[in-house]
Amino acid sequence: MNNITPPAHCTFEPDDWLRLARQWHPVARSCDIAGAPTKAVLLDEQLVLYRLQGQVVAARDVCPHRGVPLTLGFHDEEGIICPYHGLRFGAGGRCNRIPSSPDQPIPAKLNLISYAVEERFGLIWVCLAPDADQPAPLPTMPHWDDAGFQQINCPGFDVNGFAGRQVEGFLDVAHFAWVHTETFADPNNQVVPAYNPVETETGFAVDYWSSVSNFAADSPQQAPEGFSWLRHFEMHLPFTATLTIHFPGESRLVIMNAASPVSARKTRMFAPIARNFDLHIPVEEVHAFNQRVFEEDRLMVETQQPERLPLDLALEAHIPADRSSIAYRRGLKRMGFGEFFLV
Ligand code: FES
Ligand SMILES: [Fe+2]
Repeated sequence: MNNITPPAHCTFEPDDWLRLARQWHPVARSCDIAGAPTKAVLLDEQLVLYRLQGQVVAARDVCPHRGVPLTLGFHDEEGIICPYHGLRFGAGGRCNRIPSSPDQPIPAKLNLISYAVEERFGLIWVCLAPDADQPAPLPTMPHWDDAGFQQINCPGFDVNGFAGRQVEGFLDVAHFAWVHTETFADPNNQVVPAYNPVETETGFAVDYWSSVSNFAADSPQQAPEGFSWLRHFEMHLPFTATLTIHFPGESRLVIMNAASPVSARKTRMFAPIARNFDLHIPVEEVHAFNQRVFEEDRLMVETQQPERLPLDLALEAHIPADRSSIAYRRGLKRMGFGEFFLV
């Protein structure tokens, strides 16, 4: 069952909210969801997540009896339990116990409002209002399932900014020499060679060749003199992008930038990573390096004005390095989004 109206205090324009509600968005890492009721917020909707017999349930975090948040409750082996009168909700969010009248048949009205859920790339994806005629496809990720690739999932982290601004930053290749100098970039390598985004079914793809290294600046490992790095971006509109970095030889690193729109002003970031080299390095080091890169972006993304991403290209000035950013805004416009107006 779907609640297809925007929640109270929604920060999106209602039409934009509905378009976003038809898409898949990540809400948690799979490894963080077990039996206990766990909170997540997506598009201003408060969700409770729990797992029962291996299946994840995502539902509105509101008890259908008297409206208490189920994330205040607890769980047993048959479901999650509301802390007020002990109603229990099991598979598919169905109510399976009324402690005060155990013999009464349970009306469907006591079932939770639950949402479509998928688990992919170590993440739990939710679609609040699937479009029956044109269901949105889940994003894809190169190499995630390939033999020889290690799958890593960094802990989610919060950004006080709009998802579109964050994603655009991930696609931006001109800021490396200015923002990422403490991690991988070279402050003296500022020029952005020409590149051309190509439209795809779900957004666009870009092959970007440059001499900007992706080895950590302080790493003893460096690329051979004159090595040209290929960064292959795939944008899955609206907020998931993957970047495949071609290291020397056959080494590949794939980073998914999956921005979850908590509200129009808050974003929860997820970053599944797949790689086929340095497999001996502890995953915690990969988490830490990735976190440092994202932290370098934080100040820009959280202070940009306007907070929303202007889809009317006349509203901001552009430079040749912005081809991806322009393709991104055009893609969102094509999907019918307005200006993600902040209410
Ligand atoms: S409010 Fe949840 S059981 Fe009564
Ligand atoms: Fe960045």
